[in-house]
Amino acid sequence: HKPVTVIITIDGIAASGKSSVASRVASKLNIPYISSGYLYRAVTYLVYVSQIDPSDQEAIVAALHTHPLTLIPKPEENEVWQGEENYTPFLHTTEVDLTVSEIARHAAVRTWVTEQLKDLPPPFVAEGRDMGTAVFPHAHHKFYLTASVQVRAQRRAKERPEDLESIQAALEMRDREDRIQSKPAPDAVVIDTSDLTLDQVVEQILKGVQ
Ligand code: DC
Repeated sequence: HKPVTVIITIDGIAASGKSSVASRVASKLNIPYISSGYLYRAVTYLVYVSQIDPSDQEAIVAALHTHPLTLIPKPEENEVWQGEENYTPFLHTTEVDLTVSEIARHAAVRTWVTEQLKDLPPPFVAEGRDMGTAVFPHAHHKFYLTASVQVRAQRRAKERPEDLESIQAALEMRDREDRIQSKPAPDAVVIDTSDLTLDQVVEQILKGVQ
């Protein structure tokens, strides 16, 4: 593959396969991938361990100043560190899943995350909800992934100990909560991944960027 000096954005709804797709596309192109969800999750974990009221936006912003979080884009998986502590293993716990939408709805939190992301040097593949809209509106290639809630619940059930029914209910709730910040950019290519394998989605995106 020829080197690219570009920004590729991959947005989509919860459990649409964004992060697996983004990390594979990035590794095929030999460029870093960036998971913005990891930053929202890390803020949520900081709120949890600091015992901050999740609705207290000011306290959250204050905590981000006293306890700075650093996103480390690695080819396989991103890491988030708080000082000397690696937060990465705690980012996909149920506690974080349950409050991350509320935390991500705070305007000041979105501004903070957006600032962290805008400082990162291209090229990269950025994955999230608003990468192609709010954060990188001038990205060269934009994609938006969707899938039926049934397919997404089945995919998640392979990664979590909970039963299918409660996973589906939690996804439906998160879809409703994420609706505002999760819309395809007008110039994004929308891909429904319900009947596609991971490799097929990756293939489609690679064709679109070359
Ligand atoms: O992609 P994910 O499931 O790891 O994202 C976790 C949460 O963070 C999700 O509920 C929505 C929020 N999020 C967001 O609002 N904007 C982003 N760019 C990425 C994630």
